Formats: sequence, structure tokens, C-alpha cells
Amino acid sequence: MMDIMPFGRDSLYNPRWMAGPIMSDAVPEVAFPPKLLADLRRAAAQIVSARRITVITHIDADGITSGAIASETLSRLGKEFTVHFEKKITDEVIERVNSDDADLVWICDLGSAYMSQFTRIGLVVTDHHVPDSNWRTGQSLLSAFGCSHQLNPHLYGVDGSYEVCGAGMTYLLSKTIDPRNQDLAYIAVIGAIGDLQDLQNSRLVSWNRLILDDAVEAGDVEVSFGLRYFGRGTRPLVQFLQYGEPAIPGITGDMNVCLALLESFGISAVDSNGRKRYWCDLEESERMVVTDELVTNAGSDADRETLLGEVYTITRYPVRSGLGDAKEFATTLNSCGRYGDDATGPRIRRGGRSALKDAENKRRDHRRNISSALNYVKENSLLMRGSHVQYFIDGSAIKETVVGIVANMLLNSEDVDPDMPIIAFAEADDGIKVSARASKRLIDRGLDLSRIMTEAAASVGGLGGGHSVAAGATIPEGKEMVFLDRVEALVKDCLSP
Ligand code: C5P
Ligand code: ZN
Repeated sequence: MMDIMPFGRDSLYNPRWMAGPIMSDAVPEVAFPPKLLADLRRAAAQIVSARRITVITHIDADGITSGAIASETLSRLGKEFTVHFEKKITDEVIERVNSDDADLVWICDLGSAYMSQFTRIGLVVTDHHVPDSNWRTGQSLLSAFGCSHQLNPHLYGVDGSYEVCGAGMTYLLSKTIDPRNQDLAYIAVIGAIGDLQDLQNSRLVSWNRLILDDAVEAGDVEVSFGLRYFGRGTRPLVQFLQYGEPAIPGITGDMNVCLALLESFGISAVDSNGRKRYWCDLEESERMVVTDELVTNAGSDADRETLLGEVYTITRYPVRSGLGDAKEFATTLNSCGRYGDDATGPRIRRGGRSALKDAENKRRDHRRNISSALNYVKENSLLMRGSHVQYFIDGSAIKETVVGIVANMLLNSEDVDPDMPIIAFAEADDGIKVSARASKRLIDRGLDLSRIMTEAAASVGGLGGGHSVAAGATIPEGKEMVFLDRVEALVKDCLSP
């Protein structure tokens, strides 16, 4: 008979599971630097004094949540404003920003990498992508007059890939404008989860943690500790185990094994009315035994750490709605934005029921698209191995907006070399879209995909940027192989001892 331990964050003691670093409570004290607070106040003053504002934001979950926070903030201020969604910053977007006749353009979750190209008076950027290194010198004059504000964690020595996201920076500005905007903190938490900021530590840390604290204090988010598999509210129990990541040898992928595992613990996959049960429907003790089984069988200590960690509940919605779990909420937003549906994400956030139905359909399509794209790459053996990178060039079969997700999923699958970054190419309207992803191990060894994408793209007349672990670029058609050679050389430089 095994011990059943209570499953709250304060009563985690279970030596077999909890040996990993995620359970160390020795989290360093974090506080916002005074310089950031001063910069936020200056940017807030500029927003408050503007009459008409244009908001530009990114199409992914972090961008949609950033846009939601910005628009709610402006609407509470009674401002006249419009919101536009962009896949990325292009020359055309830069031109539009520079010539926009609003008093102020507020760019969220985008913009930092192109800061020196914005010449307009009246600009606020709340972003977390690696900033344009030319900006400080290029625009110091403008910023000295308080006309151009860039709020980006990298400028304060904080890493935008896991310490704070675009929605987090947007929220910090919103809260500076009015502390009552603390009720928007949960939206920033969803943005952070959407940008996978909790991946590295299996929990939100650093500035994200401070924002999470705001959301918890406002009563909008509850933090619990447990199995971090995706879909606790929307994936039927067997599929929840079958498709869980990281994979557990002998369990994941096999529906019958997953069903048998549940049965072996006397856990039924359906309720007394024959309806499918979900992870969130289980008793705490049932969750415990299953989790214990997965942890015991995990392939490595690293997988054990990834399996367990914090889970975030959005208390405004039932978990079964697909919006009560931060990961599921973020996935829903992602599936809207990446298929050109700008309207549904903001509609869901405002609570529309029909919007939820639309989003559910989008999410189903999104899942189907990703899984067929993954199969397409695998079945056609598209993944090629270079000297220092692995890559696939798929033409137009995979949508440019999901090719990055596919690259990321491939990186986590068994058939690829975790010691080489993946570079994926897809056709886009304005050239070739490149997505680059690398394992954390490579990042720890000094790989910086953001810099590599920026430099390699520039060398062929394209534009690139992003984060050390996930970056991208757009390059002219026909330049794929020259670009790849440049990437090979840059990766080699980064990783040579
Ligand atoms: O599109 P994907 O998910 O691969 O993008 C990964 C990262 O690279 C994102 O943070 C994105 O903003 C950045 N990126 C960029 N310039 C591009 C394409 C992507 O900065 N042309
Ligand atoms: Zn982001």
C-alpha cells in the first residue's frame, strides 16, 4: 500500500519525486530594478497624454494577450485607439509605424529587434525579444526627449526567453498607468505560458513570478503542483496519458497500455453515466497514484523534472471549458492567431460563448494541421543532417505560421539529434520563412539562435531575430542554401570549445 501524500504546494514532501531542483525553495529574491520603474513611469505618462493611439501586436498567444492588456488599459483610460495584429515586423510595417498619424504607436511583443528603424515621434514598445543593438546610440536623442520608449527585459539584464514575456512587459506598463489594472495580471500569466516561459524551470520565475503573484493576489490564478501534461481539462483521460510529453517508456503512445494502467489502479476512464473523464475530474488520490507511476517509469531525471511542476488554474473559467487551465487557454489563443483569425482571440478574452465554440474548432484544426505536418516531415524523411545543424525544407506543405511549432516538436521527438539545432524552411508570401529551435543543453553551451538568425539573415538580405532558444528569419527565395551555410558556420563558432 503506498502512501498518499496531500498534493498542495506546501505539502510536497515525497522524496522519490521531489529530489529535483524544481522543488528547491531557495528561489532568489526578485525585485523590479528602480531604472525599470522610472522608465515605466515615463512611458506611462506618454500614453496617458496621448489622445489617439495605434496598438500593434503579434499574432501568437503572447501577442494576443499583450493586445488584450493594452486595449483594456486604453479603454479604461477612455482613449481612442485601434489594434492591429502582425505576424512579424517587415519593412512595410516599419513604414506604416513611421507614417501613422496617431499621437502614439504602442507595439507589443514585437518591435525591439527593429528599434533603430522606427523614426516616428511617439512610440512605446513593450517587448521581450532580443533588442536591436544599434538602438541606444541610434535613438538616444529621441528617447532623451521622452518620445521613444522601449521596455524590454534584456535592457535590464533579464532574459526575455523565460523571465518575462511581451504580455508581462505590457502588463507592467498597464499597472504603472493604473494599479487597479492588477486585475489584468492573469492575462499576462496566460501570455507567459503561451510563450513557454515556464518550460525551463517547470514553473514561472523571476519577473513572471512577480506578475503571477499579482494574479494570485487578485484571485484570478491558483497555483498547484502536479503532473504538467497538456490537456487536463480537455483531453479525455486515456489520450491525456497517451499523448503526454515527455514520453514515458512503455506507456506513452499506446492507448491500450494507458487504459490498462488506469484500470490497474481501479480508475475508470468514464463516469457512471458513460461520459469520458478528464484529469481534472479525478480525485486527488487517483491523480497521485498515476503521477507516481509515470514518475517511477520516466526515462531520465530530466524527464522527471519536466513531468512535475506548477500548474496554473484561471479561476474565472471552469477547467473543463478549456480556458480554466493557463496552457489550454494559451493554446486556444495560439490556434486562433496562427490561422489568420485575429478576431476570435480577443472575443474569447471578453468571454463570448460563440467565440469559444469558434476557437474550439480552430484548435481542432490546429492539432490536425500540426500532426499531419509532423507526419509529413517524418514520412518523407525531410529532415537532413548537416555538419552542425539539422534542417528541413518543405516548400508550401507546412504553413509558415506553424513551421516553428513543428520544428520544436521534432526536436522533442526521438528521431532527431538533441545536440544539433533544427532549422526549418517554409514558403511565405514575402520570401522564405525560417524557424530555428535548439535544446536547452545547446543554449547552456552558449548557442544563441537569435544572434545567428539575425546575422545569417542579414548576410543574404533578410531579417531575423527572436530568442536564444527559438528564433526565426525571413530570407529571399533561392537563398536557402547560402543562408544555411552561414548558419552552419555561426553554430560551429558558438559551440566550439
Ligand atoms: O515563427 P517562429 O515561431 O519560428 O518564431 C520564433 C521567434 O523568432 C519568435 O520570437 C519570432 O518573433 C522571431 N522571429 C523574428 N523574425 C522573423 C521570424 C521570427 O524575430 N522573421
Ligand atoms: Zn512573446
